[in-house]
Formats: sequence, C-alpha cells, structure tokens
Amino acid sequence: MKGLILAGGSGTRLRPITHTGAKQLVPVANTPILFYGLQHLADAGIREVGIVTGDTGEEIRAAVGDGSTWGLEVTYLPQEAPLGLAHAVLIARDFLGDDDFVMYLGDNLLRDGIVPFVEGFEAARAADATSAAAQILLAPVPDPQRFGVAELGDDGSVVALVEKPEVPPSDLALVGVYLFDPTIHEAVRAIEPSDRGELEITDAIQWLIDAGHRVRHEILHGWWLDTGKLTPLLEANRLLLEIVEPANAGEVDEHSQLDGRVAIAEGAVITNSVIRGPVVIGVGTVVTDSYIGPFTSVDRDCIVEGSELEHSIVLAGSRISNVPRVIDSLIGRDAVVARSEQRPRANRFLVGDHCQIFIDT
Ligand code: G1P
Repeated sequence: MKGLILAGGSGTRLRPITHTGAKQLVPVANTPILFYGLQHLADAGIREVGIVTGDTGEEIRAAVGDGSTWGLEVTYLPQEAPLGLAHAVLIARDFLGDDDFVMYLGDNLLRDGIVPFVEGFEAARAADATSAAAQILLAPVPDPQRFGVAELGDDGSVVALVEKPEVPPSDLALVGVYLFDPTIHEAVRAIEPSDRGELEITDAIQWLIDAGHRVRHEILHGWWLDTGKLTPLLEANRLLLEIVEPANAGEVDEHSQLDGRVAIAEGAVITNSVIRGPVVIGVGTVVTDSYIGPFTSVDRDCIVEGSELEHSIVLAGSRISNVPRVIDSLIGRDAVVARSEQRPRANRFLVGDHCQIFIDT
C-alpha cells in the first residue's frame, strides 16, 4: 500500500499565516501538523509516499526532505492549481500505479493515527478483493455543513455522500483519510468539476457507489480535527499539549516556577517567570519576567519578556514584549507584538493583509 498526502491548497481560512507559509506546516505543540500525518503513515507500515504540493511546494520540500526522518521514501507531485482532491489523485496516477493507497489530507490531525483503519481495509480485501473498492472514515460532528457528509442506508451501508450540504443528511462527516483500490482512477476521470470548480473526492466516491462498487466505512472514536482555521488549530494544540512528555533541557533560574506538564527545549532560557503547563517552549527561546499559561506553544528562537501569554501558538523567531495579556492567539513567524513607550501614547501598526487585531485597552 502507498500513501498520498495532500499538502497543496491555498489555506484562505488561515490567512495571513498562509500568505507566507503552508497551512500544513503550522506547528501544533511545536511540531508541524504534516509531520503527525507522516508519522501515522509510517506507523501503518507504509513506505512509499507521494506528497501533492501547490504554491508552497518549496517550503514543504525543505521541511520534509526525502522522508527518511520517518523511514519513508517521499516523491513530490506538484499540482499546478488547487483543482480539488480528486484532481490530486488524477495527477498522482503514475506514482500510484495499480497499488492500493491511503489518501491523507495534510491539514487533518487524528489522535489515534490510522493503523486500525488500514488493517480493517487490508483484512477485508484479503478475504475478498471485491469486498471494498474504497474505505472512508466518518466522525459525528456538530457542524456537518462544513464537511463532506455521508448518508447511511437502512442496512448501515453508505448510500450517498454530499460535499458541504446546506441540509446535511446526517451528522457523519468525512474525515480526511481515505483508502482506495485502483478503481478510483476510473472514478476521478469520470466526474465533472463541482460548482466551486473542483474535482471533489466525494463525487468520485459517489461514482464508485453508483457504479456498484462497495465502499466500506468506519466510525472514528478518538478526536480528529481539520486544522485549516484558527479555532480548531488552537484546539489541536490544546489536545496535543495534554499528552506532551514533560522535559527540561533548557536553563531555568531559581526565581522561576514550572507547574504541571511543561517541556522546555535545549537552549531555552527561563528567567523570573511562571510557566504553567501544559506548555512547550522551543529551542533557544528566551522567556523573561513573564507568565506563560496553559495550552501555549512557543516555537524556537522567540523572545517573551514582561508579558503574559495563554492558550496561544507563537511561531519561530517572534518577540512579545511588555504585553500584559495575550490569549487565544496565533502569532506568525518573526512577528513583533510589543508595548511602545513612544509619545504620544497610541497604537502603532505595520500589519499585513488579512491580519486580525483585537485591542482591549
Ligand atoms: C475536505 C473534503 C471534505 C472533508 C474535509 C475533511 O474539505 O472536501 O469532504 O470532510 O476535507 O477535513 P476541505 O477541508 O477541503 O474544505
């Protein structure tokens, strides 16, 4: 079985972060989202992985390299425009050959990985190769309108799939992990672009059902998040921090206090500060005279001084100076959030496109 990771797309719901970087590389608990997916594929025994990339392809390549970090062999498959998930399968045809494959959306995060899901498909097909041309993973969600949604028939089998329906036929969302046999190649060639101009994988799977192929499904129990927006991203960060191993490889002075689950990377320096976990502090980050509260990830080479930070993600190289309270925030790379001593007292901004700033006082 091969792996196909989709790491293109424009990431409009995470602007401005995605003006300069790939949404799949935004770190949660200081590890890029995409790396969790690569690990899940490796854990499922997959070795050959194709990564479909878009405008941010160079950045993805620089971060993932040849995949050997995860014991994988990675092939890059550039997609000329974000033309849909089924289009990604279309352009991956040569790489996939006639192998079964798992397709994994690079911005999805699953707590429990995909091992049982892959094993279920392989076992069913080993018993009877016609038992399933595809397998989907479904999860009950409160807001199915945001997802592909499955309708189950009286016998419990999948009878229809609809992409982002206004009136959802159920609360069962399609999780961004799919298993296919080579029949899917016929399906992606047969379908037409949707109203949003994309070749939808949902339509391709519907084509399989309509053509009489069996589509198995499993219901996901552990948590799962589609991290393409700020709120689920902060939620993913919170959930992953809860399972981070506490560690202290940095320097913490005697005036500082670490409470609970705190992981401090090498070269980090904590002075006269309170860190209340779960928190991760990246390599070389300096925290001085500050409070860092629960569910916060501060990436490498940041400076936090005279500030209070909670339930937030700060990307590498940023500085937060003398800001009394920052919460529920995502701060990009090399950003500066600082209190100014300049007169007249005022807010001064140099803000890029699509930024959001909420001022308290
Ligand atoms: C895509 C799929 C959708 C699926 C979702 C899972 O949506 O089209 O069917 O439920 O991923 O994350 P997108 O995130 O591209 O809007």
